[in-house]
Amino acid sequence: MPAIVDKIADALHLRKSPAFDHNKVTVLFVLGGPGAGKGTQCGYLVKDFGFCHLSAGDLLRAEQHREGSQFGELIQNCIREGTIVPMEVTVKLLENAMADALKEGRSGEGWADGRGRFLVDGFPRKMDQAIKFDEDVCLASLVLFYSTTEEVMLSRLLERGKTSGREDDNAESIKKRFTTYKETTMPVIEHYEALGKVAEIDSSPPADEVYKASKAAVEKTLKK
Ligand code: C5P
Ligand code: MG
Repeated sequence: MPAIVDKIADALHLRKSPAFDHNKVTVLFVLGGPGAGKGTQCGYLVKDFGFCHLSAGDLLRAEQHREGSQFGELIQNCIREGTIVPMEVTVKLLENAMADALKEGRSGEGWADGRGRFLVDGFPRKMDQAIKFDEDVCLASLVLFYSTTEEVMLSRLLERGKTSGREDDNAESIKKRFTTYKETTMPVIEHYEALGKVAEIDSSPPADEVYKASKAAVEKTLKK
C-alpha cells in the first residue's frame, strides 16, 4: 500500500489493530494432526513455562454444552464430521478466554504488568482462522508443529477413544479428521513455514522424549 494511503487509513482509524500487543502477550500456536500429541506436550509446557493452555477443541466442546448457546448444534455437527467450525465462533471463544486470563492475572514468569503467555492448541486449523487471529487478536510468535505418521495417530486416537468419551474418537470420524487436516490445515502450516515461524517436532517417540525438543524450541522463542 502506498505510504499516503497508509497514513490516511491510520488517521481515519480504518485499520483495526489486534486486541493484544504481541510484545506483551506471547502466543504460540500448537498444530499437528489429530492424536499427534499436542495436548500432552502442552501439559508439560504449562508446568515448565507458566503458559495458559487454551485448546480450541476444548473451548468448542464447552460452548457446545453451554446452556443457551446458539452454536451447540453447529459445533456438534462439525466435530462429528471432522469439519471446521466457522472461524468467528472459535476466534471469539479464544479472544474471550485470553481476556479472562489476562484480567484474572497469574503469578509466575511472563505474567506481570499486562503480560501473558498462551499456548493456543489445535488452532488455526484453516487459513481464515489464522488471518483473523493474527489481525484481530494477537500476532503469533511461533507454531509448534508436531508431526508423525497416520498410523501412529490412529493408534493413539483409538486408545484414547476407549476412555475419552469423545464423539469423534472413532474410526469413521478419525478418517474425516485426517482428510480435513491434510486438505485444510497443512496449508496453514505451510503459510507459517514461509514466514519462518514453524518449529517442526517429530512426535513419534514417547512423550517425554518429544518434550526435550518442545522445551528447546520454546526456550529459544521466549529468549528472542
Ligand atoms: O483439537 P480437537 O481434536 O479437540 O478438535 C476437535 C474438533 O473441533 C475438530 O475436529 C473440529 O471439528 C473442531 N475444531 C475447529 N477449529 C479448531 C479446532 C477444532 O473447528 N481450530
Ligand atoms: Mg487436543
